[in-house]
Amino acid sequence: MARTVAELKTQLADLRIERPSAPVVFVPTMGALHDGHRALMTQASHYNGISVASIFVNPTQFGPDEDLAKYPRTWEADLQLCADEGIDVVFAPTVDQMYGDRTESTLSAGPLGTRLEGAQRPGHFDGVVTVVAKLFDMVHPNRAIFGQKDAQQVAVIRAMVRDLELPVEIEAFPTVRDSDGLAMSSRNVYLSDTEREQALAIPRALVAAYQAGSEGAQAVLKAATNELAGEPEVHVRYVELVHPDTLEAVSPTFHGHALLLIAAMVGTTRLIDNSMVTVG
Ligand code: PAF
Repeated sequence: MARTVAELKTQLADLRIERPSAPVVFVPTMGALHDGHRALMTQASHYNGISVASIFVNPTQFGPDEDLAKYPRTWEADLQLCADEGIDVVFAPTVDQMYGDRTESTLSAGPLGTRLEGAQRPGHFDGVVTVVAKLFDMVHPNRAIFGQKDAQQVAVIRAMVRDLELPVEIEAFPTVRDSDGLAMSSRNVYLSDTEREQALAIPRALVAAYQAGSEGAQAVLKAATNELAGEPEVHVRYVELVHPDTLEAVSPTFHGHALLLIAAMVGTTRLIDNSMVTVG
């Protein structure tokens, strides 16, 4: 495990001597690891490279009223999961290592980061792209793997990599779900049993939307909205059908593959989920 950038660099240099042509495959996380993260790490192992996972709860992507202080921290279990998945280097820097007093310059996620999640969590994606760029600069990965559950995060990071011409391949791995259909998330631990039951309206809405695909964009949105409305304790923040890359809303006459994005509050927990829908 590496706690400092110097330790990370030494461990990576040693591994590069042992395996000079192996690609560096990186899974950035904020810890509180679950089977969704495990799937990202298993995927990383398929490249027979040098695998690196980071565990860093990034303060700059939390708003002032968000859950930074109470964000779940499961340190021992996280290290065990990384070991079970054969991760070569776990990079777990302190906030001081990551930022220290070097907070003058930050990156902007641009307009893509101000829609949807970004509209409701101002500055969130600026914090994400800033920390991911810093992590990329420290790890120098050839490939980085992110969960598709955070679809907007993936789009914003892809845009950053493209715009800054960073030499890293971004891979989005399909959302991993519990057996009841709820997308795995570190925040699911906040849900009471009743709330968890209520939250299942979200995956049901995705299924209903998918099934309505052939009837067009309006029908897709209506199917999802109706399903969510059946569970009054699920407070919808947005339901949008968008182009997968630009995240711009599709027109009512759209035909093709679109991304349905849902965000909702269940109790005090904010949940997001998404799926691709073939429209028309
Ligand atoms: O998805 C996450 O866990 C975080 O947003 C990330 C990408 C590790 C950046 O802090």
